[in-house]
Amino acid sequence: MKLMAIEKEMLAGKHGKATQKSMEILVTLGEIYDATRMIPVTSVQIAGVSYANLREPGLEWLAEMARDGKVRVLTTLNPAGMDLDNWRALGIDPEFAKNQKRVVDAFAKMGIITTCTCTPYLIGNLPHFGEHIAWAESSAVCFANSVIGAQTNREGGPSALAAALTGVTPEYGYHLDENRQAHITIKVKAKVRGTARFGTLGKVIGDILDGNAEWTIPYIKGISQANTDELKAFCASVATYGGTALFHMRGITPNKTKVPQDLLLVTEKDMADAEKELNDEEAAIDFVSIGCPHASIREIRRIAELVEGKQVTKETWVTTARPTKRIADRVGYTAIIEAAGIKFACDTCCVVAPIKGRFKGLATDSAKGCYYAQGRHKFKTKHRSLEECIEEALS
Ligand code: F3S
Repeated sequence: MKLMAIEKEMLAGKHGKATQKSMEILVTLGEIYDATRMIPVTSVQIAGVSYANLREPGLEWLAEMARDGKVRVLTTLNPAGMDLDNWRALGIDPEFAKNQKRVVDAFAKMGIITTCTCTPYLIGNLPHFGEHIAWAESSAVCFANSVIGAQTNREGGPSALAAALTGVTPEYGYHLDENRQAHITIKVKAKVRGTARFGTLGKVIGDILDGNAEWTIPYIKGISQANTDELKAFCASVATYGGTALFHMRGITPNKTKVPQDLLLVTEKDMADAEKELNDEEAAIDFVSIGCPHASIREIRRIAELVEGKQVTKETWVTTARPTKRIADRVGYTAIIEAAGIKFACDTCCVVAPIKGRFKGLATDSAKGCYYAQGRHKFKTKHRSLEECIEEALS
C-alpha cells in the first residue's frame, strides 16, 4: 500500500502505541483486500460493546488501546449489555454491571461518545450521501450504505476502532463505486407495510442472497413507499439473514446502479413461509420487546398512544438510544409508557443483554430480534406488528 507521510509516522509509532497498533491493523486489512491506499473517514460506529461478548481478553485489549489512544473523528458506540443507568430495574447482575461499566469507561477515555445505540443516524452520527465512513453493526452499515448512500464496509470492532484512532480506512470493497452495483433484480409482489412486514421481507430476500457469492447486492422493485422505521427494520433483517451490506430499492434509495437482467419474485406465499419460521407454534409469551433496531421517537410515540391508561401484564421493554428517550421524557411519552408498567432499556437491547434463560417466549416486531432470540437466548418467538406486540403485552 502507498501510505501518506502521516500514515507512515503512525505506523512507525510516532503518534503513540494505540495509533501504531491501529495502523498495523488497517495496513494488514488493506493488504488482504488489495487496497492501494488509505482514505479519510469522517464517522465511525463501533460494535462489540457488550461485556457478554468481550469478556476479560476483549476488555484488556480495549484498556491497552485506551492508555494513549484518542479518536480523531466522530465516533459512537453500539448497544452495551445493559442500560447504563437503569440496569438494576432490568434485572442485571451487579458483577456484570461493574464489568460493563469498565468497558464503557475505556471507550469514553478514548473520546468516543458513549451513546450506545445501533441507530447512530437517528441521534446525530449522520453521514451524507457519498461520505466515506467506517461503521460496524450490520443493520447500521446496511442503512448507511443503502438508505443514506454513504460508503462503508462491514467493519469489525477492532477495525472500526482502528479507523477511529487514525481517521482513515483502507480503500476497498464498498468504498469503491464499481463494487456498489446490483447483481440481481428482485420484484416484490406482496403487500409490505409496517416494520414487521419489512422485517419479513428482509428475511425472504436475505435467505435468497445467503451464501450466494454472486448475488450480494439486490435491486429491489415493487415497493411504492417506506418510512425510516420500515427501512431500518428491513436493513436489520436483510443484513441478519443475508449478510447484506448494500441494497438498492427503486424509487426509495439514492444510489445509482445498472438494473440486472436476472429477476426473482417475492410473493405473498414467500412472505407467509418466512412468517412461519419467525413464529414458533407454541410460544408462551412472557416477554415483549420493541426497538430492534433501537426505537425511533415515532415508534415511542405510537407505543404511548397504544398504552395510555392501560397496564401491561408481561415484562415489556422498549429499547432505544438515550438521546431518543430524553425527547420522550420531555414530551411526556415516557411517563405514559412507564405508568403502563413498560420498562425503558436504553443503551442495550433484548439481544445483547445477558437474558438467556430468563424468559420462555418473546413477542417482537423485529425479524432480527427473532433470529437472535431463537438462536442465542433459546426463546420461542412471536413475530407481530408493533400494535399486536403491545396487545400481547396488555393481554
Ligand atoms: Fe440493534 Fe440490538 Fe437489534 S444492536 S439491531 S437492537 S439486535
